[in-house]
Amino acid sequence: MGARKKSAPAKRAAKSGKTATGTKPKAIVAPAAKPRAKAAPRAGKAKGLLPMVAGNWKMNGLLGSAKELKAMGAFKAKARLRCDVLICPPATLIAPLAKPAAAAGIALGGQDCHPEDKGAFTGDISAPMLKDAGATAVILGHSERRTLHGERDELVRAKAEAAYRAGLIAIICVGETQEERKTGWTLDVIERQLKGSLADAATAQNTLIAYEPVWAIGTGLTPTLDDISEVHAAIRKSLVQRFGEAAAAIRILYGGSVKPANAAEILKVPGVDGALVGGASLKASDLNEILNVYRS
Ligand code: PGA
Repeated sequence: MGARKKSAPAKRAAKSGKTATGTKPKAIVAPAAKPRAKAAPRAGKAKGLLPMVAGNWKMNGLLGSAKELKAMGAFKAKARLRCDVLICPPATLIAPLAKPAAAAGIALGGQDCHPEDKGAFTGDISAPMLKDAGATAVILGHSERRTLHGERDELVRAKAEAAYRAGLIAIICVGETQEERKTGWTLDVIERQLKGSLADAATAQNTLIAYEPVWAIGTGLTPTLDDISEVHAAIRKSLVQRFGEAAAAIRILYGGSVKPANAAEILKVPGVDGALVGGASLKASDLNEILNVYRS
């Protein structure tokens, strides 16, 4: 998936300084056509914090899934992993899994939260509720929320602020669609999402970024290792520009079809500080193979 050629409308748009859909991009990290060396001045790993492997169970899992979590914990202890492990089960499982997760040294997270702390919002879950149930983190702005629930950057940012108020770590997801990748707008889209979705209070302690190309989620497709490296470097550059040198420690995860077969090469890409794993996080047998990359 390294398509870097622009389509005719995209070329026209590029000339006029507008996106293919006609709106002028607010800020550009680096034009997609620029040589890679210029677009990737910082490709270092996040400083000071352990990498993280986070499992996103999505709408999967019942009480019986505790056995998978326990098996992940047993492996974590045996392999003396040099990474943080976070599992984000459905909200219904956070409280029941809290005890086994704590015993296993695995943190729990939510998959979304409401921007308000409480109120008349039928069906929604607030950040304080996640915290109360035993979560320490929450995934925000996942592409399935952005696409299926129409979530926009401003809402993701308000949710991040709610997460911080509750003392939760926010994992902010960004990523381009296949069309955006094909037309060369990947870095612009990511920059726009970062600008809009990240709250001013973001720090390395309360925030992680997950780069998840939409077209790679659940499809078995992944970007080339060079493309992953390029986007992670652009994210790092943007973070440091906005938040200063301290942002060199914000962890940037890669997500999208991470599997036992590709985890080792992806997790070794410069600038990749861990993974956000969907399908392959449901079974301990799969996730443990991914975690094995961080065995001591
Ligand atoms: P996947 O999902 O690993 O199944 O592609 C990743 C995600 O959606 O976070």
